[in-house]
Amino acid sequence: IWEGKRQLFYFNRLKSERKCVIIITIIHWCQARGDFPLAFRNEGEEIIMNYNISLIPGDGIGPEIVAEAKKVLDSVCQKYHHTFSYSEVLLGGASIDVHGVPLTEEAISTCKASDAVLMGSIGGDAKTSPWYKLEPSKRPEAGLLAIRKALNLFANLRPAYLYKELEEACPLKKEVIGEDGFDMIIVRELTGGLYFGERKTIEEDGVKKAIDTLSYNENEIRRIAIKAFDIAMKRRKKVTSVDKANVLDSSRLWRKVVEEVAKDYPEVTLEHMLVDNCAMQLVHDPGQFDVILTENMFGDILSDEASMVTGSIGMLSSASLNETKFGLYEPSHGSAPDIAGQNKANPIATILSAAMLLRYSLNLDKEADAVEAAVQKVLTDGYRTGDIMSDGCKAVGTKEMGDLIAAAV
Ligand code: IPM
Ligand code: MG
Repeated sequence: IWEGKRQLFYFNRLKSERKCVIIITIIHWCQARGDFPLAFRNEGEEIIMNYNISLIPGDGIGPEIVAEAKKVLDSVCQKYHHTFSYSEVLLGGASIDVHGVPLTEEAISTCKASDAVLMGSIGGDAKTSPWYKLEPSKRPEAGLLAIRKALNLFANLRPAYLYKELEEACPLKKEVIGEDGFDMIIVRELTGGLYFGERKTIEEDGVKKAIDTLSYNENEIRRIAIKAFDIAMKRRKKVTSVDKANVLDSSRLWRKVVEEVAKDYPEVTLEHMLVDNCAMQLVHDPGQFDVILTENMFGDILSDEASMVTGSIGMLSSASLNETKFGLYEPSHGSAPDIAGQNKANPIATILSAAMLLRYSLNLDKEADAVEAAVQKVLTDGYRTGDIMSDGCKAVGTKEMGDLIAAAV
């Protein structure tokens, strides 16, 4: 039976030995046809999964943190008897060095042919790296924007959650954090707005002038709003839609469309908030937020702010999804070239992104829970990378953190 890209085989009424023989025969048959991935389903439960995952190590600390996330995925495979096949894909500076461009057609097709993509980070030090001598459309960041567009990844989910263990690393006062801490998710529109509008730099009467365009159509707004409301239904049922409707036309349309979508979700409370106020509320009373729904640029800025109040941007995962189950998963942080290759980076954001990949793209909830619980356990046991270190805790490097989490799975 075909289910999306996967074939499912049902065996409910066969004896175990017969199942083994048949499974092995089918694996051989599919390998010969190049037909992976497969799933085998027994009494409603899938028993062997084979998925294709594209890995984009990228630049800076990217290769180190992706290696640790892969280690954790390998331990998930071992424990739950799945097999993941990996294809490495070049993006950003790593692709410029080999192909002269930050993203190739081949990279796009490899990603499209896989079930999900796990990415590290891209980009280098803009002051020193030769990548930034290239014209803007050939720089590492252009590759990231192009892959988001090519894969139609319009929905960027960025959870910001305060671990009890990390309260010390949170820059907010105890009374601001409150008893219950905070747990929010930013739903950022990712393929529209200023990032993808027309832009140019011209000269008028000897004066240089640069133009960026911010545009949204109602369909782009509607599909991201629906995502946010769907997510809110599985959480605390509150959506805060963030805009600048006191100034921008695109924000006024945003508000109107979000209100229309809200009518289909009577259980969800909707509030609108201006972006400047939201920036303030995030450090004044972060506990008030459940789902923050916002456009591309505001989401970029607010998600960095939200991540910092969790203690470290090194903890924050993200998922970028299209209309199907396919997604690209990456930490919310950048490539930190200053600490690259030194075994200092915190791999947790990437490991938690891998957990999101298991949950959203592969439907492996149990396995995703196991990864999240493993991260929680290692923090409870007092292990910390430099960015989240506090008194009395045990300092570890990137690799050791990955080893500990993989072992805890
Ligand atoms: C992010 C990053 C990117 C963005 C950059 C690297 C282009 O800051 O994913 O938040 O602005 O979207
Ligand atoms: Mg950003």
